[in-house]
Amino acid sequence: MSLHDQIPNNVDLSHDRRLQKALESWQPKFLDWWREMGPEGFQEKDVYLRTAVSVDKNGWADYNYVKMPDYRWGIFLTPEEGERKVGFGDMVNTDSFDEVPGEFRNSLRRLIVTQGDTEPGSVEQQRTLGSCAPSLYDMRNLFQVNVEEGRHLWAMVYLLHRFFGRDGRDEADDMLERRSGNADKPRILEAFNQPIDDWLSFFCFTMFVDRDGKFQLATLAESGFSPMRRSCRFMLTEEAHHLYVGDTGIQRVVKRSAELTRESGGDPYSLGGIPLEIVQKYINYWVTYAMDLFGGEISSNAADFFAAGLKGRYNEAKKYTEHEVNSGEYEIPVVEGGKIVNRKVPMRNAMNELLRDEYLADSVSALKRWNKIIADEGVDFELTQPNKRFHRHQGQYAGHFFNNDGDLVSEDEYKACVAAALPTKEDRDLVKSLMQQVTEPGKVANWIAPPKKGIGDKDTDFEYVKL
Ligand SMILES: [Fe+2]
Ligand SMILES: [Fe+2]
Repeated sequence: MSLHDQIPNNVDLSHDRRLQKALESWQPKFLDWWREMGPEGFQEKDVYLRTAVSVDKNGWADYNYVKMPDYRWGIFLTPEEGERKVGFGDMVNTDSFDEVPGEFRNSLRRLIVTQGDTEPGSVEQQRTLGSCAPSLYDMRNLFQVNVEEGRHLWAMVYLLHRFFGRDGRDEADDMLERRSGNADKPRILEAFNQPIDDWLSFFCFTMFVDRDGKFQLATLAESGFSPMRRSCRFMLTEEAHHLYVGDTGIQRVVKRSAELTRESGGDPYSLGGIPLEIVQKYINYWVTYAMDLFGGEISSNAADFFAAGLKGRYNEAKKYTEHEVNSGEYEIPVVEGGKIVNRKVPMRNAMNELLRDEYLADSVSALKRWNKIIADEGVDFELTQPNKRFHRHQGQYAGHFFNNDGDLVSEDEYKACVAAALPTKEDRDLVKSLMQQVTEPGKVANWIAPPKKGIGDKDTDFEYVKL
């Protein structure tokens, strides 16, 4: 572990001078990008942040006041647990590999770039939120997520520099050139080009889009390509907090909205709360974008990645006993001749869909918890998951018109459905009208319930950001 090198790392950078030099010359470009596109207006403030300082499961992070540009972004891989074998696919049980297999060089590079591009994308999307944070606690969590997405970018850039030579270095540079929502050089995936300019969007994003990240990373954390596996393992440690921020964030919004619905007799906005119908629309919006991130329902690419031992199923090692998956089929509804028909596809080709289903099951359990909070307030309202086929821009259902029950409809019916199920301009304006910065330690904006506990060993009224 070299914590005091120019780039903190546990990959023995100082013994690979060429690689070290290349990364050290990328570092100032990253910092320029951070200053330009990182959190706006708070770069010189002391923020109570955790920094990864070890890969030991107990005590891997330090908590301290840090100015964000001084954050110690490092490269950390989880240590290998004994002799590792490829866990699935055609080469199951052979030794796992430390170099990129030649025939997968391009597709693996694409995979790493696509994952890597999401990290700075989200920082850009969230850059103005500090100025309307509902509390210092929330503001700190936002910045924590932001610096760690920066570290995830480092994790992917390390892989690019280490394994992909000149191409990898070019890709790493491009990562700092693209901009979220920019018409000429947008981020690669559409979810990362959608604006996030209120905190309900932020919580939905960390709940549903970071959760896609968790599932993607989890399948790569099964990889037979050892550096990828170990890198993603460590990212998952940090990612857990991002999901916590999203989950508890929505939970607090739901709780407050339900309280104010009850107190106002059905009009929470009259008391400064967000109507639950609008929370539902935000959920629909972000879940449908998140579903796109899993890729095509029927995918030969996913089958190839599985065959090559690069990308497994969710909890491949823990959950399954048979790891070759040469038999079995999965039924996927597709559009044929203007109708929905079920098509049976070989299981390996349905890997993206399997993962999407795992993801949706995970989200449903959160919805159940939130619904219990609403019911406990005595309010008659239930949050639901949007249909898999509604409002999709990738895969089998893109380019068709589905309503939120998953039925094929006319374009006009679809438009009506969008207006009813997704946030309108008025809805967004309403939410924005409630966004006001609260900076007194321990105080929280009226539209959201206070957090139940603080960060690390600190209380909820700790001064998480010194303004
Ligand atoms: Fe990330
Ligand atoms: Fe994240």
